[in-house]
Amino acid sequence: MSANANAVSATEFTNPNLSILFSADQIKARVAELGRQITADYAGKEIVLVGVLKGSCLFMADLMRQIDLPLTIDFMAVSSYKDGTKSTGDVEILKDLSNPIRGKHVLVVEDIVDTGLTLTRLLDILDSRGADSIRLATFLDKPEPRINKELKIDYTGFVVPNEFVVGYGLDAAGRYRNLPFVAVVRDPSKA
Ligand code: IMP
Ligand code: MG
Repeated sequence: MSANANAVSATEFTNPNLSILFSADQIKARVAELGRQITADYAGKEIVLVGVLKGSCLFMADLMRQIDLPLTIDFMAVSSYKDGTKSTGDVEILKDLSNPIRGKHVLVVEDIVDTGLTLTRLLDILDSRGADSIRLATFLDKPEPRINKELKIDYTGFVVPNEFVVGYGLDAAGRYRNLPFVAVVRDPSKA
């Protein structure tokens, strides 16, 4: 315990510029539900979880511990080119999968689907590699700015309003990924 009360409010988890949207307990309960659903849907199969770095790291770690099936994991890192703050749909692969996915059941694990352009491009790339099935699990779905309305999301943690959210893996300029909850940044100029 700090002797200085001000020092407590200065920590990142109690940052007054953050307004909590989903608590750590709510997230835990929802991820457990998704895990049960995925376990039932893929019963008798072996799956490969493909995490999209870096944002999906916490969701991936928690979700896989709720999936009671034989599974392996792999990761991809992509950079989506933005025109200002808008996604352009051009995607560069910064890190590709370590192993082939031919004949596998692939579940892509993403932090948030916004315009959907990054995922559309990523799924196109994976589609050409001969997987038996490819499905998409996203921790958050922000449907309002969606450009690709055809993008099918198989598993969604929470639907969020059209605001910039951080925490539980999601960042603003690299910061806030370590928050155990999801929050809206009240004043982005201070973020
Ligand atoms: P999309 O191509 O517009 O769907 O962009 C998706 C990517 O943008 C996500 O994987 C995130 O990395 C990032 N992103 C979109 N909205 C947010 C947000 O509210 N907070 C943090 N990152 C976001
Ligand atoms: Mg991402």
